[in-house]
This record gives sequence, structure tokens and C-alpha cells, in this order.
Amino acid sequence: MISRRGVLASAVGVTAVAALTACSPEVTNLSSTPTPTEPATATPVAVCKTSDIPVGSGKKFDVDGVQILITQPRADEFRGFSAICTHAGYVMNNVANSEIKCDNHGARYSAEDGSVLSGPAPRALGKVNVIVEGDQILVSF
Ligand code: FES
Repeated sequence: MISRRGVLASAVGVTAVAALTACSPEVTNLSSTPTPTEPATATPVAVCKTSDIPVGSGKKFDVDGVQILITQPRADEFRGFSAICTHAGYVMNNVANSEIKCDNHGARYSAEDGSVLSGPAPRALGKVNVIVEGDQILVSF
């Protein structure tokens, strides 16, 4: 069986049933790069409030064991990505100035679209669908 963690790493459009298990930022280290995983559904899960995500920054959340980042690159524009660095699987939790930085080897990603700004990351971050309902942020993947 393939882990849920790999769903995000494998990309956009793959969905998974996810339940929120934590809403506070934390840093976790993974020892390997995620691999593709099971298909899933797109039941949106509430993650946090819009006010929890500062403009230009972001936070990491654990959604049913899946590590994601929610960012707000510009006021009232929210984005979601896998928090797993595509270089060596480090779980990232450093978002500032609309960039996501991997503290392991220094890769930088855009907090707007997850694209690689500088290596050694080989590819963009997997995207997470973000839905804003009132002051709530929900995600599905
Ligand atoms: S694990 Fe992120 S840059 Fe190496």
C-alpha cells in the first residue's frame, strides 16, 4: 500500500479523503522522498482560518498525516502545496516574503505556484486545492 503522503508529492488532481488532525505549525523530518499513492476523493477539510495565514507568509498543517503548506502570497489569495521538499523529502515550514524555503539544503519555491525558484529541488511542489468559505480555509487533495 502506498502512503497518503505520496498523494501530494505525486501531484495535482489526485484526491484523498483527509481529516484534520492538527492545526498548529510543526516541523517534521522525513527520511525519504514521497512516492505516488492511492486515488482518493475530494471531500474538503477545514484546516484553519484565513486570519491564521499572514500575507506573504504561510503555515504548515498536518491533515490526516499529510503535510501541507497554506500560503497567502497576496492579500486574500490563498494557495496550498505539499510541504514535502522535492529534493530529499524534508518537511518544510519556512514561508516568508512569498517564498517557501527548505531549511535542509536551501531550495526555494514560489508561494504563489509552488514552482522552483532555486535548487537543488528538481521539480515544483504538488498543489493542494484550497477553498475559502467565509473566514475558513478548507483543502482537498
Ligand atoms: S531536502 Fe529540501 S533542498 Fe534538500
